[in-house]
Amino acid sequence: MTELRWGEFADVAVRKMAGVKPGDTFLVLADTWTSMEIAQACLIAGLNAGANAQLLVIPKMTRTDTREFNPSTTGAILGADVILSLCEVSYLYKEAGRRARDKGIRISATVPRGMEDYVIEGILDIDTPAMIEMMEKMKVLWEKTDACKVTSPLGTDISFRLGDRPAFPEPGIVSDEYPLAYFPGGLVASGPIEETVNGTIIIDGSISPGGLITTPVTCHLEKGVITEIESGPDANAWRSRLEATGDPNAFNLAHFTVGVNPRAKMSGVHIQDERVYGSVTFGFGHQDRDFQGTAGVAKTHCDAVLNSPSVYFDDVLLCEKNKFNPDLDLGVVRVGMNPDDVTFNFTVSK
Ligand SMILES: [Fe+2]
Repeated sequence: MTELRWGEFADVAVRKMAGVKPGDTFLVLADTWTSMEIAQACLIAGLNAGANAQLLVIPKMTRTDTREFNPSTTGAILGADVILSLCEVSYLYKEAGRRARDKGIRISATVPRGMEDYVIEGILDIDTPAMIEMMEKMKVLWEKTDACKVTSPLGTDISFRLGDRPAFPEPGIVSDEYPLAYFPGGLVASGPIEETVNGTIIIDGSISPGGLITTPVTCHLEKGVITEIESGPDANAWRSRLEATGDPNAFNLAHFTVGVNPRAKMSGVHIQDERVYGSVTFGFGHQDRDFQGTAGVAKTHCDAVLNSPSVYFDDVLLCEKNKFNPDLDLGVVRVGMNPDDVTFNFTVSK
């Protein structure tokens, strides 16, 4: 049934998520991994929206591919008013991506490959206004918080200060306030104060790039930098990928993220995994400048996801076992607009 919904998906992705308006120069950016059915549906939706729309398909590039785009691709990116990216490469860490943001080009991004059901359900079958309200409430709470602690039954025990750093909800919708948006939305993130980040995380969800974890990975951090990764094949593979970049900044903590999208499932694809309801993600490597941190530029970025840790804001429980503390009055998110759909309550499991 998924294929029958791509037209519906494309229309919402183009008009609502990317905010394409009549007359916009609109670029659909795909790669040779992208389903052309999806890419062409987005092109058609752009044309139907009255935009000057075009589709560019580039050779596939992994997230950690540090090569720059060729001049033709760079020109297409910098010539657009708005871009809908459907490819995996982290092009925002490339020169063309940085220049696009400097120019104020609106960028909407997702990765359908490997999570086709989620990209559809995550924008079409969810109570988006309620999820956005929850994220906004979390932003207020987050920015009042100084000390954060994350623990888990597997042994995660890490603490850090959030200080005055801004917290960013990710509604997934491009706006003047958020000209760069990944969709489906459903997370809140910030850059912890680097020198205060100390402890151990046990990664049991996924590491992207890489995929789902088969054996939990233990990662030690001191002053915001990875000092050791152990043990097992997933740990060895991750350490090797980071070392292969030849960039010491690849080991820097870049962001701390809490997921709030009840449609997201652990899949091995970071754009879904870091939005799993009540999950926590630690991002490493390149740090988006909006976080106002000191981790800085790196050649790559990767995300390590913890399935269901406990998070404490100034010693008050925020979430545990993928449920949010009801005393915080963060709201309710339905997985669909139908009243019969399952409703997530925020009762903490005892
Ligand atoms: Fe990240």
